[in-house]
Amino acid sequence: MYLVKRKQKHPGIVEKYLNIENSSIPLLGLGTWELTGQECIDTVEAAIHLGYRHLDTAHIYNNEEQVGQGVKQSNADRQELFITTKVSTHNLDPDSLVRSTENSLVKMKTDYIDLLLIHWPTPDMELEATLSAMFWLKERKRIRHLGVSNFSPVLFREAIGLGPVICNQVEFSPYIKQYDNLAVAKESELMITAFSPLGKGKVSQDKLLQEIGKRYEKSAAQVALRWLLQHGNVSVIPKASGIQHLKENMEIFDFELSREDMEKIAGI
Ligand SMILES: NC(=O)c1ccc[n+]([C@@H]2O[C@H](COP(=O)([O-])OP(=O)(O)OC[C@H]3O[C@@H](n4cnc5c(N)ncnc54)[C@H](OP(=O)(O)O)[C@@H]3O)[C@@H](O)[C@H]2O)c1
Repeated sequence: MYLVKRKQKHPGIVEKYLNIENSSIPLLGLGTWELTGQECIDTVEAAIHLGYRHLDTAHIYNNEEQVGQGVKQSNADRQELFITTKVSTHNLDPDSLVRSTENSLVKMKTDYIDLLLIHWPTPDMELEATLSAMFWLKERKRIRHLGVSNFSPVLFREAIGLGPVICNQVEFSPYIKQYDNLAVAKESELMITAFSPLGKGKVSQDKLLQEIGKRYEKSAAQVALRWLLQHGNVSVIPKASGIQHLKENMEIFDFELSREDMEKIAGI
């Protein structure tokens, strides 16, 4: 089993890292879907300079090269970063998966990927064979961890039974709750990564989140991210493209939503 060592100095205050399988995984990452070209390079570099240490990309985002370039331009120590990429649905047979991952490594100019995910399950995939190929890459230190994305709670549990899967990346926001998947992650002390945690930007217009935010001197986006983190075993990967949003999304570790506010948001 994978031990989640969460040093809780103050119960309820979420630490910035989740420790799983001897890795400290930053709870906040930068989502890079739809970031392309020079904007992607500059945003990744800026995010790292601001303090982001977790980056999320995917084969199908067609920006792994730019993510790698942003990392290089930042001069960050590779070991301090946690980089996730995802293998697409047409590469789930073992040979294609290995080839596709090697290709991602070349594009990002890195020796290893911190977390490789199956991007989406397919009806005809052979889950055990796909996970075995990922495990083979892990043994050869081409990836450090393996995980899944867009898996139902039932399929997530099945994957956990087949291999050392550490995470399920799913859409999770005040508008789309993932309590069943979260329960599966908690049972095995694993992680849910919340994608589209800002409801693709919709949260900033949300009256309830704005009203709650006022009391903490926080924005609606910060409230949404904090709400996700306070569930425990959740990391968030908001996408942002300007310095202001990048900074704002980092300032979520210095306040705590009350139980009452957590419930109000759950009721959205
Ligand atoms: N596994 C999967 O199948 C899957 C699917 C979808 C997404 N993802 C991952 O999850 C990441 C995030 O999801 P997402 O891109 O769909 O949506 P999101 O992070 O929920 O929302 C991004 C939108 O919110 C805006 N935003 C960012 N910070 C803000 C702030 N502080 N205040 C107001 N607006 C703010 C962004 O605008 P600006 O760009 O102008 O800052 C952008 O329009 C993706 O980039 C990708 O890495 C994974």
